[in-house]
Amino acid sequence: MSKFEQGFLIGAATAAHQVEGNNIHSDYWAMEHMKYTNFNEPSLDAVDHYNRYEEDIRMMSEAGLNAYRFSIEWARIEPVEGQYDETEIAHYRKVLECCRENGIEPIVTMHHFTSPKWLIDNGGWEAEATVDAFAKYCKYVVEQLGDLMHYVVTINEANMGLQVKAIAERYKRQMMAKMQQMMAMQASMNAGAGSQSGNMEGTAQIGMNFNSMMENMKNQQAENEDVFGVAEPQTFVSARTEAGDILVMRAHQAAKAAMKEVKPELLIGLSLSLHDIQAVEGGEEVAAKEWVEEFTHYLPYIKEDDFFGLQNYTRSLIGADGIMPVPEGAEVTQMDYEFYPEALEHVIRRADEEFKNAGRADMPIMVTENGIATSDDSRRVAFIEKATDGVATCKKDGIPVIGYMYWSLMDNFEWQKGYSMTFGLIEVDRMTQKRIAKPSLGFLGNI
Ligand code: BGC
Repeated sequence: MSKFEQGFLIGAATAAHQVEGNNIHSDYWAMEHMKYTNFNEPSLDAVDHYNRYEEDIRMMSEAGLNAYRFSIEWARIEPVEGQYDETEIAHYRKVLECCRENGIEPIVTMHHFTSPKWLIDNGGWEAEATVDAFAKYCKYVVEQLGDLMHYVVTINEANMGLQVKAIAERYKRQMMAKMQQMMAMQASMNAGAGSQSGNMEGTAQIGMNFNSMMENMKNQQAENEDVFGVAEPQTFVSARTEAGDILVMRAHQAAKAAMKEVKPELLIGLSLSLHDIQAVEGGEEVAAKEWVEEFTHYLPYIKEDDFFGLQNYTRSLIGADGIMPVPEGAEVTQMDYEFYPEALEHVIRRADEEFKNAGRADMPIMVTENGIATSDDSRRVAFIEKATDGVATCKKDGIPVIGYMYWSLMDNFEWQKGYSMTFGLIEVDRMTQKRIAKPSLGFLGNI
């Protein structure tokens, strides 16, 4: 007996920049090619999905998947502000048609982390004008391609900026603590030796290249000025201010309204990155606050949507002092977070509860991403099995889950980490761009 009813969407997800290759008008392309870049390697040809999408979609269909979540690249459609590229529209028309011909329901994301470089030059995701610019681009795409579209995710992981801000703050606190420790050590060494040395690193070895870090930061800021015209460009995944966080929500709402003007029957939602936040003793208050920040405070902006895109990878254990390390002995993925597929069910239940409280007991939930980076495909199969069991249990309890998209269809460009992380159901040899299905692709298809 199969786990899900006919019509339940089972598929895989990708994002344009991570798979297509040569996204030359984007902010990421610019950042990847900077001298003081944070990227391990540039995306270059990626996995050439731009030219090989037919083969990739056919592989999905042959394995038994019935949905494909992918993104349309804003930087391709509008490489220069106000100038749309019709050849790129023609390209995405072919991709959408290919999905339809293969019995695959396309789920189209309008923004998945990358933006046109001009948008960032103009102030990026903290600038008021971005709301309108995004809505205009979305409207244009629906005018051109709406006949082939049904599900639209406006913005991928709209809460990413706040998550990045939280990580940056944690990192800063750790750095400050280490600096204080280093200064105290140096002071006591200076007192002992009567030294007048002004060098903070001194001879105290505590694993930080403080001087070169500061130097690098200065160089990066100067290079940012050259490339983007500002020392701190506001890309989508820059640490967000509170106003910027809400601006992203307003961009979602404006885009939704603009697309509905063209095609009212489109089903539109956004996606959020959600951890299964679990409090350990003493961490209850901090954990509750984290959840409000990660999810609840967005409810007013998304509760009228047509569906909710839920993305989850693992759990996060919270003690009185915040996030705790992965439990001793736990299995970790290539990304260094815990292998914990149970998280998905927990998060679906929690989100559903929140929608119920907001008067939207009927809110359809689509798992728009869930996955694992591992070189051992049997662990991927185990992960998918457990995670989808959780989805099935939620459905049995009446929670309206409408689909499950595994991240990712193919091994691809994992942002700053480059090609080292293997999330894919399909392996790609980047020398030849040859595709090899992993057993997990068939496993997912058989569900
Ligand atoms: C993003 C993907 C990313 C994946 C794995 C999600 O946060 O939407 O672009 O590759 O996680 O890290």
